[in-house]
Amino acid sequence: MYAKFASIGAYVPQRKVTNFDLEKIVDTSDEWITKRTGIKTRYFVEDETTSDLAVEAGKIAIKRANLQPSDIDMVIVATITPDYFAMPSTACVVAENLGIKAPAFDISAACTGFIYALSTAKAFIQSGMSKNVLIIGAEALSKIIDFKDRTTCVIFGDGAGAAVISATENKDDAILDIDINADGSYQDYLITPGRGVKYGCETDEIYLQMKGNETFKVAVKTLSQSVRDILERNNMTSDDIEWFIPHQANYRIIDAVARAIKMPSSKSVLTVGKYGNTSSASIPMAINDMFEEGKLKKGDMMLLDAFGGGFTWGSALVPFGGENS
Ligand code: UT7
Repeated sequence: MYAKFASIGAYVPQRKVTNFDLEKIVDTSDEWITKRTGIKTRYFVEDETTSDLAVEAGKIAIKRANLQPSDIDMVIVATITPDYFAMPSTACVVAENLGIKAPAFDISAACTGFIYALSTAKAFIQSGMSKNVLIIGAEALSKIIDFKDRTTCVIFGDGAGAAVISATENKDDAILDIDINADGSYQDYLITPGRGVKYGCETDEIYLQMKGNETFKVAVKTLSQSVRDILERNNMTSDDIEWFIPHQANYRIIDAVARAIKMPSSKSVLTVGKYGNTSSASIPMAINDMFEEGKLKKGDMMLLDAFGGGFTWGSALVPFGGENS
């Protein structure tokens, strides 16, 4: 049995925040943010939680896969902004609100979360344990950002993206390859110190902290190697890829990695300008944009890559298996 990427959906909260809005609350400028990151706008939740965003994205993905909630036999949510600190998992809340009675669990792999979820779904399907797995990357990052810290608050955004991964006997539709990795020696480069049992209430450092410049350098080097490796071991080049859909952290990282594999800019998908960095949601949100714009067609080979806190990273070669309406 093979696993195919059967459908895509996404949801973005209503409240749009521009760089000019941020200029009013922190010492920054539209010029700096645009030049260093490519970000112009991002969306923040108001009353919604991560599970609310995930449910909306999930509904669309299930419908576009021509399935009912009762057909879904596993729910995986990748998030670093779960509704609850320890339990229940966000996936349990999402499954309940979608009317799904099936195993449900969260994955914590920061910005690489969607690729980790994809890899997990693929393994469950190939083992014969699952037939239709709903995977969701969902984040309400505005809830863990310090709006006094200009080095982080201008970068992140909220949103969710979902996909149904289904069993197929057709090898041509199959997810071709996934590579996931981690190196915990970088654990303090991207960290929320005060949200776990280690420091708990003894610290007031409850917000996300990032060594941005250092992270940038490791991200470019690691991702360039990761995408080169996955292409090489599948005897592929950028010519064999229709769409390069990377995690949307910074247009300069995307540009550098694309250059490393000679990916023409016409094939590189850039949504960071619109949504900011939405961590685990950024890849499925970008896939969804491509789908809704009518650019992404059934059978198109997607090259995905992501890098995030941990550090974690990964890449994947995935033919899009969704039907265009
Ligand atoms: O998604 C998970 C993984 N995350 C990433 O991959 C993010 C990787 N990092 C980045 O994208 C970039 O490093 C940033 C966008 C976070 C920062 O860009 P940078 O070019 O690395 O800037 P920097 O940190 O080296 O800072 C340059 C200057 C500093 O001022 P001085 O020391 O040169 O006077 C900062 O204080 O820019 C200053 N600065 C700002 N200025 C205006 C930092 N943030 C801001 C800001 N507005 N928002």
